[in-house]
Amino acid sequence: MTNSKQIIAMIRSHAAGDSQQFFSIAEHIASDAHKSGKNKVAGEIRDIVTRAKDHAARNEAAAAIPLVTPRGELANLVRASYPETKLSDVVLADDLRRRIERLVREHQSAGALEERGLKPSRKFLFSGPPGTGKGMTAAALAKELNLPLFTIMLDSVITKYMGETAAKLRLIFDAMNATRAVYFFDEVDALAASRSMENDIGEARRMLNSFLQFLEDDQSRSVIIAATNHRSLLDAALFRRFHSAFVYAKPGIDEARRVIANNLLAFDISRMDWPKIDQVAPKLSQADLVAAAEDAAREAVLDNQGVLTTELMFRALQDRANIQPN
Ligand SMILES: Nc1ncnc2c1ncn2[C@@H]1O[C@H](COP(=O)(O)OP(=O)(O)OP(=O)(O)O)[C@@H](O)[C@H]1O
Ligand SMILES: [Mg+2]
Repeated sequence: MTNSKQIIAMIRSHAAGDSQQFFSIAEHIASDAHKSGKNKVAGEIRDIVTRAKDHAARNEAAAAIPLVTPRGELANLVRASYPETKLSDVVLADDLRRRIERLVREHQSAGALEERGLKPSRKFLFSGPPGTGKGMTAAALAKELNLPLFTIMLDSVITKYMGETAAKLRLIFDAMNATRAVYFFDEVDALAASRSMENDIGEARRMLNSFLQFLEDDQSRSVIIAATNHRSLLDAALFRRFHSAFVYAKPGIDEARRVIANNLLAFDISRMDWPKIDQVAPKLSQADLVAAAEDAAREAVLDNQGVLTTELMFRALQDRANIQPN
């Protein structure tokens, strides 16, 4: 039988916002009811508790990504976003995929690592040609780790005034402690080239040195990703500041096929003559393959009754290949 003590305890736990305690009392009441033969009441209480717990868990998961808005000066330096990109949508060579998935696991199992005095790795360098998935991976990592993506607007960070760039970098690195997020320094060579701004080597060196120092000192729980198309321009001292480096490349035949197929899900491509596609697809970047697949899809819808033929796809790829810089 439900007694007055249970009712008081339930009210108390509700008032304290202790839903775990609240549900546990409800479960006791259900089992008391069951013992005294009131199976229907017991079942009903248990149903309500199960549904309420599921609901609470869903809310908690949805709220897991903190909605944060950079304020003050920081608002001019970083752009916050909440990507929906799934890691499984990024087509990667097997080795790269394995290593990226590993990073995600390190963060998901941070507790187990910490028990042994270890920490998940957090500072990464992505290098490779344009349109191969560096930005997409940064977005997907933010999504997988339930973190906001803070893209650094290097144009605003880098100024020609002495010491100002270092002050702006300090704001960003301070934010890493205050707000856990994925901090993405795209085109980091602008900041960390060994030789840049020939007309003002002194300031360029100061900027590079402060970036190196901040990167080295950072002990936050944020993830830092730097990306570049020009690995060879980076200062040699930069590399040892990263926990790992990832080299992106244009797709091989397999990856090219996957990028195309993933972007033609609305079409029947079961009769695609892949060996013919292979003649041209790997010459393009993954970004160009996506664009070519979209070109072919539009053409199929408008001019070919929605049928996407090998010929259409091949021509779209060739058109893209012809507008390549070399
Ligand atoms: N590996 C990939 N798998 C699937 N799609 C990709 C891949 N790489 C690029 N894309 C497509 O191209 C778009 C642009 O790619 P992304 O911004 O990641 O390139 P990037 O490597 O950052 O290039 P850049 O150096 O020019 O910034 C993505 O939004 C996606 O549609
Ligand atoms: Mg990019």
